[in-house]
Amino acid sequence: MCGIFGYKGMKNSFSVVFNGLKDLEYRGYDSWGIASLIDGEIKVVKKTGKIGEDFDEESVKSSISIGHTRWSTHGIPSDKNAHPHFSCDKKIAVVHNGIIENHDEIRARLKGHKFKSDTDTEVIAHLIEEYMKKYDYKEAVVKALGELEGSFALMILNSEREEIIAVRRGSPLVLGVKKEEFFLASDILALLRHTKEIIFVEDDEMVIFNSGFKMINFVSGEVIDRKPEVMDIDFNESDKGAFSHFMLKEIYEQPKAIEKTISGVNGNGVVFQIPEKVLSRLNRVVIVACGTSWHAGLVGEYWIERFAGIPVEVEYASEFRYRKPIIDENVLLVAISQSGETADTLAAVKEAKDKGAFIFSICNVFGSTLTRVSDLVVYTRAGAEIGVASTKAFTTQLSVLYLLSLFFGEKKKVLTGSEVEKRKEFLKKVPVQIAEILKNEKKVREIAENYYLDKNALYLGRGLNFPIALEGALKLKEVSYIHAEGYPAAEMKHGPIALIDKDMPVVFIAAKDKTYEKVMANIEEVKSRKGKVIALASEGDSIVAGKVDHVLYIPTADHFILPFLTVIPLQLLAYYIADLRGCEIDKPRNLAKSVTVE
Ligand code: G6P
Repeated sequence: MCGIFGYKGMKNSFSVVFNGLKDLEYRGYDSWGIASLIDGEIKVVKKTGKIGEDFDEESVKSSISIGHTRWSTHGIPSDKNAHPHFSCDKKIAVVHNGIIENHDEIRARLKGHKFKSDTDTEVIAHLIEEYMKKYDYKEAVVKALGELEGSFALMILNSEREEIIAVRRGSPLVLGVKKEEFFLASDILALLRHTKEIIFVEDDEMVIFNSGFKMINFVSGEVIDRKPEVMDIDFNESDKGAFSHFMLKEIYEQPKAIEKTISGVNGNGVVFQIPEKVLSRLNRVVIVACGTSWHAGLVGEYWIERFAGIPVEVEYASEFRYRKPIIDENVLLVAISQSGETADTLAAVKEAKDKGAFIFSICNVFGSTLTRVSDLVVYTRAGAEIGVASTKAFTTQLSVLYLLSLFFGEKKKVLTGSEVEKRKEFLKKVPVQIAEILKNEKKVREIAENYYLDKNALYLGRGLNFPIALEGALKLKEVSYIHAEGYPAAEMKHGPIALIDKDMPVVFIAAKDKTYEKVMANIEEVKSRKGKVIALASEGDSIVAGKVDHVLYIPTADHFILPFLTVIPLQLLAYYIADLRGCEIDKPRNLAKSVTVE
């Protein structure tokens, strides 16, 4: 995880890096630090906590700086463990995104070196220092890199040189170029406010910038001549507008985001660009993702199997590659990721690609690593999602998956053209239906007032709404720190029912579908054990109202469309409960928006 940013140019580099780190804060925010070269010495600022709290960015002046915003892996969040890390003589400073897996081994070997932090990163600075006893600086860096196991995007500053060396293996690194100014960052979004001329650094590549910049492959020594690509994306400063948090703003942006995603897919027909030869041999779809994106995948599984009759497996990306998955060229691998940088998802994609699968990705961030390793990308058009708890990315991912399943349905002749059109019309109504649900915000807030002091919650749903129960529980955990479990409603009797008493709130997704009667029976089972029930029900369902403690209504809709609607009150419920508890909603403790370590 973590974000890194480097700058060399005529502006005050400290201030450019400081603001660059703010753009990267979604990658981690437990501490930050910047090293700047000033008159042959490296000056460092390190702080625990979020970037910029009580700090004047103009208090340091320099033309060359590297910085880091941290999500702790090795060592607690503290000033001591914040990057940059230094060699003993303070001449080498390093910032790092990734994990050095053999750091203990290297540390043990570097006898005589004094380590100041508990991090894996610090060994890199000492290792370079050690090799500099025998080799010149650049050779020493290459020798040190040769010993590192794991993943890294690194920037290195040497007090005796007006230059930054940056390298990548497994963690993202992007170079931005502008007349006499050079920027390096973990993603392009952090560069776009400065330049649209971007070079994506690939694995095993090194960038050296001093008066100009040079790229080489640090393993083969080969010089790389890669011209910048001009990225036609605008930098949109995100602000909360009238909303008190990004999460709430993003919940409200869902109708627009879904509309944009649908017209993006239909407008340029991207879904339909899967090559015929891939489609004709396709016998299985495997979906890989993490977190909320994995929940979208579970809904996609129902749709694809039902509409197209193609067998689907949904895998946690982190588990996928560790069990020798059976993948060949007849598999279409669908990778779902908001950020396109989740390390586990990227590793799963690599595994599947090596085995011959066609990689179809659903991603929200243009130019992210996932989009560059995929055979075909369909973008969700949610716009920048800033709140760490994903909301609009989820419903836009659902939109693409729904259209993809209809596309397969027609191709496999399970659905007729007119059925596909009818189902597309159902989707087109979703933005208006979500806007209707959002009007009930006050009611959700009232319910939150009854439950915000509780310690646990259960979320139950069946069929297409089981993944929504998981997502509702995840949202609550993420932003309010209340322990919550999502379960298939019928599984309740195989364990979770033991937890039910008067202190256990249970959220039932009880919208009218084929499982309605069964879910109603589960509600009775909870009520007869004195559990508190909040039900999501279809508009006009007065029966459920008589049985439960609170009801939130959603518009009646086709059964297959329900996940788009049932998730909305659950997002709002998590938001209001967290707000009442005074939690840091947009940046919950211990989490990061993009998880770039495995
Ligand atoms: C983190 C975020 C989640 C997200 C998950 C997967 O855990 O906090 O909101 O769902 O990563 O991220 P991705 O960018 O791959 O969708």
